Amino acid sequence: MQNEKKAWWKEAVIYQIYPRSFADSNGDGIGDLNGITEHLPYVKELGVDVIWLSPVYKSPNDDNGYDISDYRDIMTEFGTMDDFDRLLKKAHELGLKIVMDLVVNHTSDEHSWFVESRKSVDNPYRDYYIWKEPKDGHEPNNWESWFSGPAWEFDEATGMYYLHCFTKKQPDLNWENPKVRDEVFDMMTWWCEKGIDGFRMDVISMISKDQAFPDGPDKDGIYGDLAPSVCNGPRVHEFLQEMNRRVLSKYDLLTVGETAKVTIEEAKKYANSDGTELGMVFQFEHVDQLNEKESVIGKWTTAKPQMTGVRAVLDKWACELEGCAWNSLYWDNHDQPRAVSRFGNDAPEWRELSAKMLATNLHMMKGTPYIYQGEELGMTNMVFESIEDCRDVEELNAYRQYVEEHKMVSPETMLACFGAVGRDNARTPMQWNGSLNAGFTSGTPWIPVNPNYKVINAEAALADPDSVFYYYKKLIALRHGNPVIVYGNYEPLMGDSRTVYAFARNYENRRLIVACNWTEYNQPCPLFDGIAGEELISNYTTHKDGILQPYEARAVLV
Ligand code: GLC
Ligand code: CA
Repeated sequence: MQNEKKAWWKEAVIYQIYPRSFADSNGDGIGDLNGITEHLPYVKELGVDVIWLSPVYKSPNDDNGYDISDYRDIMTEFGTMDDFDRLLKKAHELGLKIVMDLVVNHTSDEHSWFVESRKSVDNPYRDYYIWKEPKDGHEPNNWESWFSGPAWEFDEATGMYYLHCFTKKQPDLNWENPKVRDEVFDMMTWWCEKGIDGFRMDVISMISKDQAFPDGPDKDGIYGDLAPSVCNGPRVHEFLQEMNRRVLSKYDLLTVGETAKVTIEEAKKYANSDGTELGMVFQFEHVDQLNEKESVIGKWTTAKPQMTGVRAVLDKWACELEGCAWNSLYWDNHDQPRAVSRFGNDAPEWRELSAKMLATNLHMMKGTPYIYQGEELGMTNMVFESIEDCRDVEELNAYRQYVEEHKMVSPETMLACFGAVGRDNARTPMQWNGSLNAGFTSGTPWIPVNPNYKVINAEAALADPDSVFYYYKKLIALRHGNPVIVYGNYEPLMGDSRTVYAFARNYENRRLIVACNWTEYNQPCPLFDGIAGEELISNYTTHKDGILQPYEARAVLV
């Protein structure tokens, strides 16, 4: 496929900032917009093109900003709209684009629309949300919210239930109501007019619900699964096409949908190359299915994913979307554990090598790569000694439901699961230097700092030419300088190997060969023998014939 349509966002690398944990400028222990602005030169130094900001809008923070009470205002702890405007201006001056998180499957229960909606059945905002009568005195169906407990909350004022796929402080918007769509599209236009460069759309695959609201299949012996009725629902593509017509098509934006439960078939529609919906989507198969296979309960596991499983998923996505839809590439984000701990090896002797190997694997693939703050330092998972260390509402609710109420899981096992796959792993503060609190704050951080910050931090990385940071920088620069990395078609190699992930990229008579050893032992790999080519990057300076050394990665252009 040599005729892939060109687009700036296909050639870009995105850096995700989770503002709460990035940099605190005023000592209250919470990261903020001015903290980000101060550190823009660091992001620029890495060489990325775009910053995706996790939500910065006004929010009571039940789910750290993914519960928005005012889409046109800034979270008090993060600063003001003036601070935002300054951040946007400074970023643009540095040649960095800003992509906003768009959370429109639900709002906060403190959003004025919901405050009105719950007042009475004939309130003009009533149909902005999804209200149902009780069924036999109970919830309208058996759905479990994504974050434990029923997905329905009873509201005294009118004696009805409202739907919340996430926490009860995150009521789902009713996209069937054209007024809701008007409001959302107006708000998006308002941000576009401000000059932002795109949207990452939170759980956008969930905006259209099966209007029959049927019970879901048993999930954990307690509740039913809502996913079959809310993910990739009946009108989701119609709604996104309307959004595209009315807003997206009027600007030159990066758009990426966070599409829970997306399949290849669905992705071909969401991210179709005609551009009638979104630019690309985040799929979850390489991070989700592996958990379910060896689950303690629900998503919770301590099992480590195997390379072969990861490769099967990523190769499938790369091959099947070839020429018809665009991929996004990621190992971690604010909802996932740290990449080096999950997929690599965070023991001191292997941490940097395996972080570089993983980076090579991902950044040489076809699609737009995303880097999550601290990934470029090889930041690791956290050890959670007690539930007191945890902040994430998903973890706290799971602990309450499975450990305290139903006694299905021991506290030790639950904490071990949090340490393996919990979202707080990604949310410990960015490690800037070896001083108190890793230089994140002069106050008390809202979540504990990972104790390894004295060794793993940005200052140390910037002083070491061999660091993970500079390796990422090189990978990003290579993408910018080599069209084969962006547009080359994808060809899986060495499919029988259980230890080496290899592939080629082909573009205009150039062939890029990439091989990554996912283990701490030498592994056979014949791909580079007798080949005269230009080595674009490797995490080793010397190589051995026929072998990849522990966690060795190589990319050679022939
Ligand atoms: C998405 C976000 C996650 C949030 C959820 C509800 O999955 O990435 O952080 O909790 O949606 O908004
Ligand atoms: Ca602050």
